[in-house]
Amino acid sequence: MRQLLLLVCCVLYLEATEMGALLFHGNCVTCHYETVDKSAPSMMKVRQAYKTAFGNKKDFIHSMSEWVLQPNEKTSIMQDEIAKHGLMPQLAYEKEVLEDIATYIYETDFTKVHPHHR
Ligand code: HEC
Repeated sequence: MRQLLLLVCCVLYLEATEMGALLFHGNCVTCHYETVDKSAPSMMKVRQAYKTAFGNKKDFIHSMSEWVLQPNEKTSIMQDEIAKHGLMPQLAYEKEVLEDIATYIYETDFTKVHPHHR
């Protein structure tokens, strides 16, 4: 019973991160390349800014998903990027989905080989 519970937890956990990976690579990368600035700052750069501003995982995920839900110049921590590229447009995602994506971004070192690397 205990092992079964553990297995179920593992599968659910994998699915959340896996979902985040799929959604990130299906959507965010059209603007955010992983390590190169294009029409938007690279995700490596965004991740670094959020890691510096919000020390722990919980705050990182909370702040990023809230911001992406409702991009706002006032609450942006990347003012230079807004000056360079303009404010990020609002996307139609649920908060829970954005949390999965933010979790994937938090856990992924884009300079190394990682899930869904391309
Ligand atoms: C249509 C292009 C586009 C798409 C798609 C896009 N972004 Fe952005 N994003 C930008 C641009 C441009 C900026 C830089 C300007 C800014 O910060 O508003 C940005 C900035 C950000 C920031 C920095 C916020 C801050 O504090 O300023 C985060 C976090 C972010 N994007 C996350 C995401 C995630 C997660 C996705 C996918 C769900 C995504 N973006 C999809 C264009 C895009």
